[in-house]
Amino acid sequence: MKKEEKIQEKKWWKNAVIYQIYPRSFSDSNGDGIGDLQGIISKLDYLEQLGIDAIWLSPVCRSPQDDNGYDISDYQDIDPIFGSLKDMEELIAKAKEHRIRIIMDLVLNHSSDEHYWFQEAKKSRENPYHDYYIWRDGVKGTPPNQMKAAFGGLAWEWVSEVEQYYFHQFSVKQPDLNWENPKLRKEIYDMINWWIEKGVGGFRLDVIDQIAKEPDRQITSNGPRLHEFLKELSKETFQKADLVTVGEAWSATTEFAKLYSNPDNSELSMVFQFEHICLDQEEGKEKWDLSPLPFLKLKEVFSRWQKELYQKGWNSLFWNNHDLPRIVSRWGNDEVYRVESAKMLAILLHGMQGTPYIYQGEELGMTNVAYPIEEYQDIETKNLYQERLEKGYPKDEIMRSIYAKSRDNARTPMQWNSQKNAGFTEGTPWIKVNPNYLEINAQSQIEDADSIFACYKNLIRLRKEYPVFADGEFQMLWEQDEHIFAYIRTTKEEQLAVICNFFEQTISFPQTQKEDTSWKLLICNYKEIDQPMILRPYEARMYWKNKKDV
Ligand code: GLC
Ligand code: CA
Repeated sequence: MKKEEKIQEKKWWKNAVIYQIYPRSFSDSNGDGIGDLQGIISKLDYLEQLGIDAIWLSPVCRSPQDDNGYDISDYQDIDPIFGSLKDMEELIAKAKEHRIRIIMDLVLNHSSDEHYWFQEAKKSRENPYHDYYIWRDGVKGTPPNQMKAAFGGLAWEWVSEVEQYYFHQFSVKQPDLNWENPKLRKEIYDMINWWIEKGVGGFRLDVIDQIAKEPDRQITSNGPRLHEFLKELSKETFQKADLVTVGEAWSATTEFAKLYSNPDNSELSMVFQFEHICLDQEEGKEKWDLSPLPFLKLKEVFSRWQKELYQKGWNSLFWNNHDLPRIVSRWGNDEVYRVESAKMLAILLHGMQGTPYIYQGEELGMTNVAYPIEEYQDIETKNLYQERLEKGYPKDEIMRSIYAKSRDNARTPMQWNSQKNAGFTEGTPWIKVNPNYLEINAQSQIEDADSIFACYKNLIRLRKEYPVFADGEFQMLWEQDEHIFAYIRTTKEEQLAVICNFFEQTISFPQTQKEDTSWKLLICNYKEIDQPMILRPYEARMYWKNKKDV
């Protein structure tokens, strides 16, 4: 092993488990119906009890909230709906007392159109901030090209003051920043260093694969200068402190991921890749066009990422985030086997190599919702609904897509208890609470040793106890088996085996397998093992052995 790799091996985040908070839906302290920083502070005990090491906080900076904070108008201030800079400093300090680090969400691909930079930029072509954004000359009504924005419509918007179009990959209120401009890059580094000084533990980088766009060539992700920009960014900021950094990269392949998460630490700690997430989206189709989950493909994808990044990069492990439907509703069973399947999905993921992320409510087995369209708040969902109605899609088909894929599935308020509004707020919640909170809530699970919460808590504890979780080499078992997802992790000293029935049919182990009693059961999702060689619906087991004992 090279010297740098050894240094990287010791990184704290290799044994860490990170919890994502979507602030507006987590906990409301002042009754305005929107979660806030004081709300998070009041739940630090809960998070410590779960055992997590860090919180990834979705954006809390000042923002007109066109995309719930992913449109930032001041990177160095907190949005009043969440609190103040003082609250943020308090959160960082109090979290530290609970041995929890705060990871901020950096939205560097675009700013809000209400950011001072953009307000200036659109005044005149000569304005010093003009070149902070991406402009193209043109005639009103004839955009430079037909590139589409992620939230509907074209990616170009006309500004009459300058008689130019600006480029936006997301909403019109999210103009793309021009990373080609060294002055802009310098401002970004200064801002990040200011947050590092405040004591944050790391950063999640929003759509970071899209910063080096070249709209004239219709390039959005993986632009030619992407890794050059990332190396500079990392050198000027992250490398000065012991931080964790995770880039959101929808376009990441294993080859790209090895660049991003190179153990030499020249770019980021890791990336969120989405190959395992996009499997129920057909080639060339949109995420709203539903298709079934190809199970063997899911196994192949995980196996490949585990193998390819072994000692050459680092994986992030996740099923959920604020943009995705709830995993138990998607690939588990959110009715009869909700508890079993939620635990199975947790055990399956947490045994792998990488840093696991838990999205708020995942540790309770929170589920998707099916609301009337008026209840949805997400800009993407609302635009999609209009767009498809206009294209003539039947309403019930559109709603089926929304039930399955809307980002609001993840954004309903955290279910704390069985009281009013699930204990999320004293006021009127900004988005409707999932009506199943009477049954699914934190209070009923915290003290229950058989709860989904307890399962997550145990998985976090085990990861810290056995080095094989961070270090073991991955080997898929029974690759072609159409029901079982099973793998082994191996180091010189230890072995870990994870065996999961991914479906609701009872199933036997593949016939060639003989019972081996040298394994110790670390965790499973049924009270006891009934028949060792038979897996009940969604049954999941994690075994361990010390090679010396055999
Ligand atoms: C990322 C965020 C998403 C946001 C988008 C634009 O994908 O996770 O919530 O809408 O970037 O910032
Ligand atoms: Ca509030």
